[in-house]
Amino acid sequence: MSTIHPVPAEWAARAYVDAAGYAEKYRRSIEEPEAFWREETARLDWIKPWTRLSKSSFDEADFGIEWFSDGTLNVAANCLDRHLAERGDTVAILWEGDDPSQQRRITYRELHEEVCRFANTLRRLGAKKGERVTIYLPMIPEAAVAMLACARIGAIHSVVFGGFSPEALAGRIQDCDSKIVVTADGGMRGGKTVPLKANVDEALNHCTSVNAVLVVRHVGSSVTLAEGRDHWWHEERAVASADCPAEEMSAEDPLFILYTSGSTGKPKGVLHTTGGYLTWAAMTHHYVFDYRPGEVYWCAADVGWVTGHSYVVYGPLVNGATQVMFEGVPNYPDHSRFWQIVDRYQVNIFYGAPTALRALMREGDEWVKKTDRSSLRLLGSVGEPINPEAWEWYWRVVGDERCPIVDTWWQTETGACMMTPLPGAHALKPGAAAFPMFGVVPQLVDGDGAVLEGATEGNLCITQSWPGQMRTVWGDHERFFQTYFTTYRGKYFTGDGCKRDADGYYWITGRVDDVINVSGHRMGTAEVESALVAHAKVAEAAVVGMPHEIKGQGIYAYVTLNAGEAESDEIRKELVQWVRREIGPIATPDVIHFAPALPKTRSGKIMRRILRKIAENDTSNLGDTSTLADPGVVDTLIATRG
Ligand code: WT7
Repeated sequence: MSTIHPVPAEWAARAYVDAAGYAEKYRRSIEEPEAFWREETARLDWIKPWTRLSKSSFDEADFGIEWFSDGTLNVAANCLDRHLAERGDTVAILWEGDDPSQQRRITYRELHEEVCRFANTLRRLGAKKGERVTIYLPMIPEAAVAMLACARIGAIHSVVFGGFSPEALAGRIQDCDSKIVVTADGGMRGGKTVPLKANVDEALNHCTSVNAVLVVRHVGSSVTLAEGRDHWWHEERAVASADCPAEEMSAEDPLFILYTSGSTGKPKGVLHTTGGYLTWAAMTHHYVFDYRPGEVYWCAADVGWVTGHSYVVYGPLVNGATQVMFEGVPNYPDHSRFWQIVDRYQVNIFYGAPTALRALMREGDEWVKKTDRSSLRLLGSVGEPINPEAWEWYWRVVGDERCPIVDTWWQTETGACMMTPLPGAHALKPGAAAFPMFGVVPQLVDGDGAVLEGATEGNLCITQSWPGQMRTVWGDHERFFQTYFTTYRGKYFTGDGCKRDADGYYWITGRVDDVINVSGHRMGTAEVESALVAHAKVAEAAVVGMPHEIKGQGIYAYVTLNAGEAESDEIRKELVQWVRREIGPIATPDVIHFAPALPKTRSGKIMRRILRKIAENDTSNLGDTSTLADPGVVDTLIATRG
């Protein structure tokens, strides 16, 4: 934790911003926002330029968030059309399949044409401005094509990660009332086929709203097409026109919904809009990755998560980048795969998740060292706190002590990066998300909301709006306000704990609410609990996070069975399978601990603090247990911990 890696001299000299540049831009973003955002929004092509900067308030009386609201533009035109004159023949996507022999190269001109045909097909199937389209695809170029096609015609996309179960998919289709689903016959991960179309078929047994399914042929597996409802993309493509004018959208028109887990209830449909989101994605991609024309950029995230939205699709494409898109996993066919891809495409900028690094680190340095990687000049980390060991390994073994690491902290709700070191501006401290992005005002508060100054630790809030901020929870504006702006009145509360050191660096310490971070993916403990109690043999369940060497956090479930049900390994397996079916493999419980009873207060509230301690195997100091209704319950749990 004491190591500091200074800014390499060549970085300070060539980066878009050096230390003084960062300080000056940050100051202007706060003190002269009108001028600052005038410049930053000039990265985009506006049909009608904005005159109203922002009208945002986090207070109940005049609550609302708006940026550039009288401007108009089209996101797809910004990502494609405007590049055609200068870089139409530049490669936009270097696609690498799960199978190393599969590759595709797509130029900006080709991508533009595909998007236009896809957009016309969506229109033919009934999509129009404001309608929701659910996208359930693997990491193939058609995922970006489908998203941009929606943006082109003003339809709102809702991408659902291909690892979610039919149940989870159905819930997301229903919540936003999609009439169209885009999927593929299947996806490939680590040599195994994911039956996406079959999952859609199962989901649609519960969703009457859907009247059209567009199916991309990818793996060549046999699927059944429902007459009148299901259509092959390759057949539609053959007859679709490549001419599709882009819809003029208001800056505040919705661009997409992305479902994410919170501490309570079912997943929330996070809504992002057009002008502010695109400005934020473009600006952060530019400064954080310091992307230069001609370089090859690779973000290894799936488009099913917000990282894939902002740093596979919108950020890099709006900036005209050439990027790698990878369908597979880091350890297939072997543990060198990531670095083989780096060598094959001469990747300059690589952005990945700590969980993958930890998994690869465990396999030994040889897998990395036998690849060249000399093309790399910048590395990024995202999704969860990166432990110093993994950071140092990334720095030393992957980057050969040459490549700065940008540890980017942000959330689905924030649209794109909020805090990170900038490679030409900030000395790196392993594990620190360092400093706020332009326009971001972080604040640390204690449990009562008192503002903490100087070197301290507390709950992380953001005090004023930024352009990429989510605008609402789909269909539930009240929930938006209640979830984020009432814990600490008048502030956006992130749900994260955070330290600020004597040099002013910010260090994210992890969630302080009932959300756990499993392999960089957010899981609401309440969601896993409701899946468990939906099982016929379960009376009650409580889920907490536990430390996990690879995943960061694992899922620890306390389960009380119905009277008369005997605890057994069979039921344990059954429950694990059940949760995987209800939510998806990412929600697989790591531990099922049968609990005859759960520790509760006299008013019946489950004492999660104690359950967390037992899961962490840290039972020497359980804190105040005086409010427990039955202290014996805790002793039993400690005694039965596996
Ligand atoms: C939560 C947001 C960032 C987009 C992908 C995840 C954690 C994210 C970091 C980081 C420490 C991080 C936070 C945050 N997180 N990045 N660099 N250092 N923690 O988006 O699924 O909305 O999850 O991920 O706890 O609140 P998400």
